Amino acid sequence: MNIRALTIVGAGQMGSGIAQTAAQSGISVMLYDSDPEAGKRGLASIGHQLSRSVDKGRMTKDEMERTLALVRLSAKLEDARPSDMVIEAAPEDRAIKRSIFRELDRICLPQTILATNTSSLPITDLAAATHRPERVIGMHFMNPVPVMPLVEIIRGLATSSDVLASVRALAQAMGKTAVEVRDFPGFVSNRILMPMINEAVYTVYEGVASPEAVDQVMRLGMNHPMGPLALADFIGLDTCLAIMETLHEGFGDSKYRPCPLLRQYVRGGWLGRKTGRGFYVYE
Ligand code: CAA
Repeated sequence: MNIRALTIVGAGQMGSGIAQTAAQSGISVMLYDSDPEAGKRGLASIGHQLSRSVDKGRMTKDEMERTLALVRLSAKLEDARPSDMVIEAAPEDRAIKRSIFRELDRICLPQTILATNTSSLPITDLAAATHRPERVIGMHFMNPVPVMPLVEIIRGLATSSDVLASVRALAQAMGKTAVEVRDFPGFVSNRILMPMINEAVYTVYEGVASPEAVDQVMRLGMNHPMGPLALADFIGLDTCLAIMETLHEGFGDSKYRPCPLLRQYVRGGWLGRKTGRGFYVYE
């Protein structure tokens, strides 16, 4: 199936990044968010990123306007009906995602592919909330979506080969490299990345080093573009905690236990960049 009409569910950091990247590839996108204000913020952030590209001479003003014209906002999930494919980018919460999948299954045409941008939840479990498990797939983008070249593609137990082929082709059309992995907690990206971030939090919790020192070690010593704690703030500490909990529950192994300091920050509303405070303070 050639994906021409795409719906993105959720206009947060990931959803708006996916919408921007799709529109820049000439794909018509409906960006849905149940909260119209969140939708407007998502669209404004796309506009902001595109105008930075114009300032840097990577895009003309005309191209920017053509790209923006490809993104429509909606606060009604019913508007997803004519889409060839929907990519869900809602918060990392099993109950929320399952309820969105149930609704999408009811609303969308039978052939519509339902993809999730989940960073760790089992695809098979979300697929089981629908009557079309063969048309459900994981399409996991990395943040910031317009910049990062990877898309992890995850087949659920029942995902069909033609759905896999359509999603691979879409990833390629969006300029991404698709890597297929199996449906186990955290897939590959977060099974490796999150325990590293969690361990970085433990080194702060145990007083081994300050956040600045931990990040400096990893940037200067391992050539990581961002230290793990700056990256955790960038991803969102609530998302990091949710992923650690999924790994812990999914494997039943204590090596994945979330650091108590991570839990405390999330309880305190220190969620990283998006709330202005995490391991660092943001103006
Ligand atoms: N949206 C779009 N473009 C962005 C951006 C954003 N939010 N942030 C930065 N960019 C672009 C800039 O415009 C710039 O483009 P040009 O070089 O073409 O001008 C480029 O990225 C580099 O940006 P900067 O010069 O401002 O800053 P930088 O060199 O420090 O790079 C970074 C920023 C790309 C974010 C880099 O620090 C990086 O790669 N960090 C690690 C990101 C990472 O690991 N992401 C994966 C997170 S895990 C995940 O997403 C999965 C999950 O499930 C949790």
